[in-house]
Amino acid sequence: MKGEAMDLLETHLWMMDLIYKAGSNIRKKMGQNLAIEEKTSFRDIVTNMDKETEDFFAQNIRTRFPEHQIMGEEGKNNQFTSMQGYIWIIDPIDGTMNFVKQRDNFGIMISLFCDGIGLLGYLYDVVQDKMCFAIKGYGAYLNNMQLPQAKDIGITDSLMNIGDCVMRTDAKESRELLNRALAFRSVGSAALAEMAVFEGKICAYLNYKLYPWDISPAIVIAEELGYVCETIDGKKVDLLKKTTFIVGTKRAVEEIKNIVRNLSDIFKY
Ligand code: 2AM
Ligand code: CA
Repeated sequence: MKGEAMDLLETHLWMMDLIYKAGSNIRKKMGQNLAIEEKTSFRDIVTNMDKETEDFFAQNIRTRFPEHQIMGEEGKNNQFTSMQGYIWIIDPIDGTMNFVKQRDNFGIMISLFCDGIGLLGYLYDVVQDKMCFAIKGYGAYLNNMQLPQAKDIGITDSLMNIGDCVMRTDAKESRELLNRALAFRSVGSAALAEMAVFEGKICAYLNYKLYPWDISPAIVIAEELGYVCETIDGKKVDLLKKTTFIVGTKRAVEEIKNIVRNLSDIFKY
């Protein structure tokens, strides 16, 4: 694999430093007026800070690794047809609606894949200054602490986090899940919900209609800690498509899949 040709630890230290710098820049400018634009709907928005942050990462990556590709949420060429080679996947601000309405509860998400294999993954809670990351083969960490392996807990033992798309469906499968689970929580940021899984605060996060940049760091971190990432049909997540997504303990993911797997496609994509 080409991944072995690069110094992963050195690249990790460089990228973590960039994420801290980007976070500090966002915190510094957060009080200023934002330029807000709608993308596909009034619920799907982008600000000048999303664009500025993505440009910062893209420029730094291009300078250090000109041969690497960049799949960024706000980038022009983010429709990939292959995972060949080194690919950085970037969501500069995950939870833009929270960023705009709360100035809180949003994250930076970055990952590095080589030939489809996850090497580095970062979920950064900008306001709380919490960095959750994994380096393939070296484990996963929250700030300076190594995170423990996944526990064997299910949806009746623990809380679970679900995204808006699940909340919005009145499909019988979604109602069945709410009736069976201990309780639903929703934070409005995939990054923060995924981090809560890895901290052991919830047993799973479920959402539909997610993009590669909403989920790719979680795939790298989950692999190191023994959590499962799957589509609701029980398939491996395809980072070239919009997808349904569950990350959680093995038990919770099985339980959730068994309840929602027959959900109609109109709710899923
Ligand atoms: P985003 O803020 O980076 O777009 C909100 O429930 C979660 O779903 C956020 O993580 C949000 O990421 C993600 N999401 C993905 N596609 C979305 C869309 N079209 N509209 C709103 N949120 C979206
Ligand atoms: Ca985003």
